[in-house]
Amino acid sequence: MTLARAHTNIALIKYWGKRDAALILPYTSSISLTLADFYTDTAVTFDPALDADAFTLDGTVRPTTMVTPFLDLVRARAGRHAFARVTSVNHVPTAAGLASSASAYAALALAASRAAGLRLSPRELSQLARRGSGSASRSIFGGLAIWHRGTDDATSFAEPLPAPNLKLAMVVVLVSAAAKTRSSRSLMANTVATSPYYPAWVAHNQAAVEEMLAAIDAADFAAIGHLTEQSAMQMHAAIMAGDPAFTYFEPETLVAWQAVQALREAGVPAYATMDAGPNVKVLTVQDAVPQVLAALEPQFAGRLLTTTPGPAATILED
Ligand code: DP6
Repeated sequence: MTLARAHTNIALIKYWGKRDAALILPYTSSISLTLADFYTDTAVTFDPALDADAFTLDGTVRPTTMVTPFLDLVRARAGRHAFARVTSVNHVPTAAGLASSASAYAALALAASRAAGLRLSPRELSQLARRGSGSASRSIFGGLAIWHRGTDDATSFAEPLPAPNLKLAMVVVLVSAAAKTRSSRSLMANTVATSPYYPAWVAHNQAAVEEMLAAIDAADFAAIGHLTEQSAMQMHAAIMAGDPAFTYFEPETLVAWQAVQALREAGVPAYATMDAGPNVKVLTVQDAVPQVLAALEPQFAGRLLTTTPGPAATILED
């Protein structure tokens, strides 16, 4: 039995759209922050006595279609044939709507490869995790990470971006804990296929990656925050312009977004981002967290979570 832990990540420069859906190769590179407080623990045992894979998530039996195609990649690579028992627990505050495929497939990549006898490098693990879910490629690493879009399986992987001078923090605003209304995977494909804004998004987002690298290098928080908000809004604009039209925004999403803008006008370093759901994540610096919380409390009391950069995926038991 091998037990691994991987943390969720939130993209600052977003990934949205696959050039190759089978290999999960993206149209653009992306940059993310791995978070300390939200993670998945996954145990994998390959057992010759099993006649099928078995998967439980948070104590409930779940369809093996969520793990078997991924385990098949690991088996092929390791030259093994045994089925596996996979047990996952999401450590995300109850109903936060943050349970993520990123931490799930990063933890599964690490636990399953190791249980199968493979000893993969972080880069190889990132490539493998990518095959489960694109954003999982980045959760192999702690702190800031870039997923290079690459041109094929071998060149599309993430790597860490050390940023010792940035004291980042994130405040998550729980607008809604309801299950996602649309899966990001199908909506992503629809945006690529139908949104007239998608080609513009690709061109702009890829340029933003270069600007973000320079901003991180310079530890320029204002530039990092500005680029973060731009990438999120541009992704959501491309989504909205798809056919059929759709948005993840809910009324309170805009309430939170406007509160962040007002904070900034008052001189507090805070910037908003948002993914495939209505919750808003506020990127800030550790010293400004009390001000961010104070500004959001009136509207979102009891629905605010604060976290900081988290560590790389790791083996807990082998
Ligand atoms: C909005 O990585 O969940 O969070 O590759 O289809 O599994 P698949 O998609 P996934 O999409 C993440 C989209 C996003 C932006 C991001 O994390 O970069």
